[in-house]
Amino acid sequence: MSLSQLARTIRESATLKLNETAALLREKGEPVIHLGGGEPKSKTPIDAVINCSAVLNTGEIRYTPPDGIPALKKAIVRYTEEHYQKLVSAKNVIASGGAKQALMVLLHVILDPKEEVIFPAPYWVSYPEMIKLAGGIPVPITAEDGTFCPSFDEIVAAVGSYTKAIILNSPNNPSGAMYSRDFIREMVEFCEKKSLYLIMDDIYNRLVFDAKTAPICYEFTKAPIEESKLVVINGVSKSYAMTGFRIGWAIGNKQLVAAMATIQSQQTSGPASPSQWAAVGALNGVQSCVESLRVTLENNRNVMMDRLRAFTGVKVTKPDGTFYCFPDFSAYMKNSQELSRFLLDKVRVVTVPGKEFGFEGHLRLSYCGTIRDITEGLDRIKWALDPNSANELFLGERKLVREWL
Ligand SMILES: Cc1ncc(COP(=O)(O)O)c(C=O)c1O
Repeated sequence: MSLSQLARTIRESATLKLNETAALLREKGEPVIHLGGGEPKSKTPIDAVINCSAVLNTGEIRYTPPDGIPALKKAIVRYTEEHYQKLVSAKNVIASGGAKQALMVLLHVILDPKEEVIFPAPYWVSYPEMIKLAGGIPVPITAEDGTFCPSFDEIVAAVGSYTKAIILNSPNNPSGAMYSRDFIREMVEFCEKKSLYLIMDDIYNRLVFDAKTAPICYEFTKAPIEESKLVVINGVSKSYAMTGFRIGWAIGNKQLVAAMATIQSQQTSGPASPSQWAAVGALNGVQSCVESLRVTLENNRNVMMDRLRAFTGVKVTKPDGTFYCFPDFSAYMKNSQELSRFLLDKVRVVTVPGKEFGFEGHLRLSYCGTIRDITEGLDRIKWALDPNSANELFLGERKLVREWL
């Protein structure tokens, strides 16, 4: 088959592939524990369900404006005022098929061939592929000191004449690390001075722990939005546990947003109408679901941290937010893909190799499932790797004895 050059250079999403593998094993009756997931397990907020059902019941599900229905844009404007203390107009907002599409359309709008986009490593698996899809060159930056947050100087050192944009994702997938206020301030000021796009991927910014709050980028700029190259990406997927609805958005200057709407209109004609109404329900409805999810995730994180700390040889940094942590397992196996495969084969635990996030030796473990998933998943991993763990392990009905180590 003759596929395009582009198709041959783009890798499939490792995380979506793992979901598929886990589902196939489960279908075969294998007692799989999925610590590789990227979605909270709470139910869709009731106001989203009501709004969505109401529109479905009319039987009149039609095209919408390509950049989103006015009610959704209005809800996003209000959300931005409440959570970012920033007044924007509907013309600064585009609703897309998930934060992913908002980001993808944005990259199409800003990148010319071979222009570079800088982002810190570890990074969300999709950034490099999305940048390549838009014709650009991904430039991941790893901190010299081995931490999850490269310094301002390290990022700035990578900026050259081809640099078009910088993406920051805080709190971060996969590490859960949140960048400091000072770092965000420096980045906002630097990008403004150099006229670079600064893309804030804020998809996890409400899922933050230990009474911390995510810094708000708008705090550090006085530039009117119409003169600004600061773009905020967010959506309902994570905070409202609405991954399946596929609604995200971007906030930027009018000209940029209009160009994004044009591209989106040619790609998909805009997000699905029932999903948009569901998002309106979520954003305008009772908000306790977000806090309740945040509290659950904080508790889950604590349980996961306790288990990991009792693990000989694993180095773990406490996540500030998200529902991921990113421990260093290199004392056991340096190659994270082999380690992840080994854990799936031996003890049926799904993890995501750090290599996919540009950070070898680590595994991404999710704590968005149940406490049982976390404790049993980590017990199994411990049994598979840590010589100080119990000798026997039950995998469903099967009893495993540590002979093969
Ligand atoms: C950092 C980051 N940005 C964006 C997205 C995309 O979110 P959505 O499901 O709204 O497309 C994800 C999803 O995993 C993510 O982790």
